[in-house]
Amino acid sequence: MEIVILPSASEIAKLVADKVQKLLKIKPNLVLGLATGSTPIPIYDELVARYEQGLFSFSKVRAFLLDEYVNLPFGHPQSYLEVIRRCFVNRLDIDPNNVHAPDGTFSDMFLSCSSYESKIKESGGVDLQILGIGIDGHIAFNEQGSSLVSRTRVKTLTERTRQDNARFFNSTNEVPRHVVTQGLGTIMDAEHIVLVATGISKAKAVANTVEGAVSASCPASILQMHKHVTVVLDDASASDLERQDYYRSTFSAKPSWQSI
Ligand code: GLP
Repeated sequence: MEIVILPSASEIAKLVADKVQKLLKIKPNLVLGLATGSTPIPIYDELVARYEQGLFSFSKVRAFLLDEYVNLPFGHPQSYLEVIRRCFVNRLDIDPNNVHAPDGTFSDMFLSCSSYESKIKESGGVDLQILGIGIDGHIAFNEQGSSLVSRTRVKTLTERTRQDNARFFNSTNEVPRHVVTQGLGTIMDAEHIVLVATGISKAKAVANTVEGAVSASCPASILQMHKHVTVVLDDASASDLERQDYYRSTFSAKPSWQSI
């Protein structure tokens, strides 16, 4: 795991956008894993700004979302597919048909989850997965206690996650109880995973993820078992890390030819 601590969300966005830009040069038909939630939004804004400057094209990019609510009506403004369309996909030249999300309106749950897994495999797999983290250490919608090798499936949200996400709805009651999410095993198949976190509310989850034991009680801790993970943090979300000084000195001494 590489831990990068930066002063602000905009610095984080620039670093991650630099990585995407570099990958696009090598592989224009990049397969990107997209996360919803508020934390990655500055990254999407930065990518859109660079696209508008003509620095790259997303015309051949394929993208896969991590998760989706179950049974929100098609086109509901808070469906994760709609959110990602609004904040990212509709703002650049990516083909909307190349942006995939788990189907939360399925009639056959098993078929729908396994066909999502197949779609990811057929694309050649995710090259770069952008991830956020919940305050209890969940990633995508893999709540605490999730199998560390799980695949795409339906999960029941904890009350805490429903309350956290209630800010996007009129009330907690409106937040669906069920979701369909890539499993931890699915996420772990990505070639490179970049987890971003900002704000003091994420400090404990970040410390458990990076320096705690690998445990289903902190689903993100499974990332310790991945060969290429970059955790990009602001000062507040890094504040509970014991080895902060080491991470900072490692990053500042990083050879200039080596990107994240
Ligand atoms: C939801 C999403 C996660 C996201 C988390 C944190 O639970 N399913 O993918 O990481 O929220 O969101 P935020 O970045 O808004 O704190």
